[in-house]
Amino acid sequence: MSRTPATSTDLTASSLCPPELDSARLPAHVAVIMDGNGRWAKARGLPRVVGHQAGVEALKSTLRQCSDWGIGALTAYAFSTENWSRPGDEVNFLMTLFEGVLQKELRSLEEEQVRIRFLGDLDGLPEKLQQLIDDATERTAKNSGIHFNVCTNYGGRRELVRAAQRLAKQAASGTLDPETIDENSFARELFTVGDQDPDLLIRTSGEYRISNFLLWQLAYAEIHVTDVFWPDFNADVLKQALLDYQGRNRRFGGLDPITT
Ligand code: FPP
Repeated sequence: MSRTPATSTDLTASSLCPPELDSARLPAHVAVIMDGNGRWAKARGLPRVVGHQAGVEALKSTLRQCSDWGIGALTAYAFSTENWSRPGDEVNFLMTLFEGVLQKELRSLEEEQVRIRFLGDLDGLPEKLQQLIDDATERTAKNSGIHFNVCTNYGGRRELVRAAQRLAKQAASGTLDPETIDENSFARELFTVGDQDPDLLIRTSGEYRISNFLLWQLAYAEIHVTDVFWPDFNADVLKQALLDYQGRNRRFGGLDPITT
């Protein structure tokens, strides 16, 4: 992500936002399921892992665009609890890729005021990656820019079970009255604590599935599916997703005040 750090003379986020978009009605939080890296590579006669490398570049530019256009948070699904079932070589490649990206990009993330967090069962990751994650999380924790969440060894059901266990432990120790548990106190036990729920979920490669991603948090998200494989995701595809989002009528279970 290297580029010159923002200064007070830089253009504001809303002026960088494409004019076709209403900068006042952007989603505050976008979530992405980055699917299709393997197929992108296969279509080019390349090994699957080359697709993952290209996927990193697409993620870096998506983070830059979201930040520049004024979106407050981006959450990306990088590695699911189910992805361990892939061939060992591919899993090892991904872990090494995550380590390399963190080492290479941390300075730029700091300069660009990105706050990065990794969401998931981080204890299950290689020791070196855990250390890099701890370092990046700590060094960017107070940054004032976009919140960038990377779901790694993440599973939505596991996150819900973990939240239930944490509440149960508090109840068993007498520090929590079970009767007081509500949606807000439950959400505070999720990995995403502190971020508002995603307004928009984008999934690439034409698959209409949630795949155990942010099961609680996506309750009212608008969903946009594009046929584009993740490595080909770019500013134009992001703009199309945001235009689609801005055309939606979000009712949150209520009635439309315009047509009723
Ligand atoms: C899904 O495509 C992609 C993944 C499981 C890995 C995504 C990871 C990255 C883009 C790297 C992110 C890096 C950092 C540091 C956050 P697939 O392999 O399932 O593709 P296929 O469905 O075509 O096989």
